[in-house]
Amino acid sequence: MPILNIPSDAFSHGQIKSKLWLCEHFKKWAEIHFKQESGYTLNWYGSWIGLGPLLLLSFNNNVFKKINLFDLNEYDLKSSASVLDFWRCESIEVNTFNSDVNTITPSKDANQLFVNTACEHIAGSAWLKNIPVGSYVLLQSTDMPHIEHINCPENAKDFLSKYIEEIQILDTQELAFQYPDKSFKRFMLLGIKK
Ligand SMILES: C[S@@+](CC[C@H](N)C(=O)[O-])C[C@H]1O[C@@H](n2cnc3c(N)ncnc32)[C@H](O)[C@@H]1O
Repeated sequence: MPILNIPSDAFSHGQIKSKLWLCEHFKKWAEIHFKQESGYTLNWYGSWIGLGPLLLLSFNNNVFKKINLFDLNEYDLKSSASVLDFWRCESIEVNTFNSDVNTITPSKDANQLFVNTACEHIAGSAWLKNIPVGSYVLLQSTDMPHIEHINCPENAKDFLSKYIEEIQILDTQELAFQYPDKSFKRFMLLGIKK
């Protein structure tokens, strides 16, 4: 049986809490904004090992018919296909793309959700500009200083200011984390691509 070699940080309290927080809010947002019968395509940018999509589908298994995962790390992307194999067996189409999200031109299909919970890691803005008009967009970022965080907002206002020109904002949320060695905030928004 193949062994998955995946980073333990993906299972840290902060990483899992951030994704459960996303799932809980998405459940409410889906009831208001998403036509349940439509069968949305979930595009996850910086999908890492696929825990975000695994949890989101487990909370909302009647919204999505297809998942497209995009990441620069080929090994983590392969792991994410294993992590999501349950949903493939449940007839969800799972596709992986080893690409820089700033270089892709997404399909212009209707009924798409684009998720990026790694905004603090991703340079440039082509990835956002290229999302088709009318698609739903769900973003998370953090003010936590870290060597790999090259695009941190200073606060919730700064987070919104980075995206407001491209996204019609439907809701925003903020969550504080406190640990013995650090404290930080995560910011989240749901909107529609302008
Ligand atoms: C540490 S992980 C994600 C952390 C974040 N808290 C989350 O759970 O989504 C960041 C991921 O973004 C990916 N990434 C960074 N820049 C990218 C880019 N330009 N295109 C695609 N993936 C990218 C990395 O390969 C990595 O898998």
